[in-house]
Amino acid sequence: MYKKVLTVSVLLAFICVRLAASLSCYTCVNPNDCKKPKQTTCTTAAANVTSDYLRVYHDNVRNSSSSRFDCLALQYTHSNNNTVTYQLHGCVHSDVSACALPLKAQYSYAWRKNKCVICSGNNCNKSPAGKMSSSVYTIAAATLGLLLVKIYA
Ligand SMILES: *[C@@H]1O[C@H](CO)[C@@H](O)[C@H](O)[C@H]1NC(C)=O
Ligand SMILES: *[C@@H]1O[C@H](CO)[C@@H](O)[C@H](O)[C@H]1NC(C)=O
Ligand SMILES: *[C@@H]1O[C@H](CO)[C@@H](O)[C@H](O)[C@H]1NC(C)=O
Repeated sequence: MYKKVLTVSVLLAFICVRLAASLSCYTCVNPNDCKKPKQTTCTTAAANVTSDYLRVYHDNVRNSSSSRFDCLALQYTHSNNNTVTYQLHGCVHSDVSACALPLKAQYSYAWRKNKCVICSGNNCNKSPAGKMSSSVYTIAAATLGLLLVKIYA
């Protein structure tokens, strides 16, 4: 019995680490670049780069060294003609709260936040097709659930 619990715990821990370690996000830094976004595996360094870009236009971007990551998709438009003025996709530290950051005063009067998405799931920050990866996790969880039931039955 205890051996089984141990096995399952180790399995769970392994899966959790794998999921946390393997998050990948679409990455691009301006409207032109975002026509051809790259895919980046989230690391502290990658999330720090996103923080640096966020810091150019926002106040209160904290210096996070957290290794909990999400994918970010952020877009601002000019409030008078809806032209995309600023676009940023990438890995972001979860505790930076990227969608809650205030714009610097010199941008806030003319820019409108058009979109801001923080999501977790591989490449979830580009297309709705990214939702597929979370359903993969759901299937994995369901399979694990079945496995647990079998082991304890
Ligand atoms: C990322 O930024 C944090 C906070 O500024 C810093 O402590 C950490 O060393 C940086 N890590 C990398 C890999 O650049
Ligand atoms: C974050 O780091 C920068 C540069 O390393 C420093 O100037 C700034 O004061 C730090 N901010 C906070 C809130 O610690
Ligand atoms: C939209 O408005 C901004 C600010 O007034 C201006 O700089 C930009 O050129 C405009 N874009 C278009 C396509 O009209």
